[in-house]
Amino acid sequence: MLDVNRIRSDFPVLKREIKGKKLVYLDSTATSQRPRQVIEAVSKFEETKNANVARSIHTLAEEATAEYENAREKTAKFVNAKEDEEIIFTKNTTESLNLVMRGWGEKFVKEGDKIVTTIMEHHSNFVPWQQLAKRKKANFEVIDIDEEGKLKEDELEKIKGAKLFAVSATSNVLGTINDVKRLCKIAKDEGVVSVVDGAQSVPGMPTDVQDIGCDFLAFSGHKMLAPFGIGVLYGKSELLEEMDPFLYGSEMIKKVDKNCAVWNELPYKFEAGTPSVNEAVGLGAAIDYLNGVGMENIRKHEEELAGKLLKTVGEMEGIRFFGPRNAKERTGLLAFEVEGVHPHDVAALLDEEGIAIRTGHHCAMPLHLRVGIPEGTNRAGTYIYNTKEEIDYLAEALGKIMKMLKG
Ligand code: ALA
Repeated sequence: MLDVNRIRSDFPVLKREIKGKKLVYLDSTATSQRPRQVIEAVSKFEETKNANVARSIHTLAEEATAEYENAREKTAKFVNAKEDEEIIFTKNTTESLNLVMRGWGEKFVKEGDKIVTTIMEHHSNFVPWQQLAKRKKANFEVIDIDEEGKLKEDELEKIKGAKLFAVSATSNVLGTINDVKRLCKIAKDEGVVSVVDGAQSVPGMPTDVQDIGCDFLAFSGHKMLAPFGIGVLYGKSELLEEMDPFLYGSEMIKKVDKNCAVWNELPYKFEAGTPSVNEAVGLGAAIDYLNGVGMENIRKHEEELAGKLLKTVGEMEGIRFFGPRNAKERTGLLAFEVEGVHPHDVAALLDEEGIAIRTGHHCAMPLHLRVGIPEGTNRAGTYIYNTKEEIDYLAEALGKIMKMLKG
């Protein structure tokens, strides 16, 4: 079991007060908070080992390189990649997905090919494919959702005959957990390359890329306790090998003369310029922390909080929520509409109570258009440090707001 009180004591920011009230942080779907173990690991690196990596042979540079590669090894183990070289460090999930679009898509997608994604995607796993399809004169097809925010079974047929299929493991608005293992198997059986957006799933549940069977998986450090500025692209080495680099310069080059250049080996071929070394060290520390808590325990905790959100906020009169009705099928977030009240007003009034939620379209505009709420929704996103009492407090505050605004 997960000891929330012990966990909370590791997060300095949770001691803050907002407008005279205790901070209730329910915006972890946008970014998680950082425990002192991560903050300290980053400062210790900066205080004692700061140097550029893979360049110089002095002690500091060697230590920094070792720390950077150690973070890669931890990341590879965390998602069960076969080889460390299958882990490319990027800036964030968006950059990882764009790397696949530029490196694989530009090279292999041809006119008349089909690219498939879903209507529940974050813009980062939607727009790169939409724009690639436009440039290549390829067909862009989108799998729809049902009333509960799950992918429509009969629309999965669209995957067949595609060149590439991009899907999020879990939706950042609906909370839906997609059966990515099954979806990637459909793709694999049809020779379709699969790209999984794990930005919201990797922080909250065990991830095993070999079991999922995906070709690519993208995720970000900042949603799983690490600092901003570090993202990950996992790719099967045979695919990464055949891809072109996305950015040119610095250590991604093995040899260059006036006429041509030869790329470095994996993973460096895709890490142009000085990488985010201290952020990678922070990611390593975040992974240690998450492993210490246990990813299975984290999933259980999220499921409990999802259940609590559904029972309290989800069942309130005047509130409409989105996504599956069963907590087992959801991550620990709830996007909802307070009928007749603009989401920005709800968020501003909750802030007066010390409660931080996200409001708007959550970078998922096609989904909001699909469910008929172009102005956006409110979203409460929990993580390992949230308690059921905080959700009661949210429900109470929402009740107060509705009473005040609607009389
Ligand atoms: N993708 C992040 C969110 O859903 C920023 O809030």
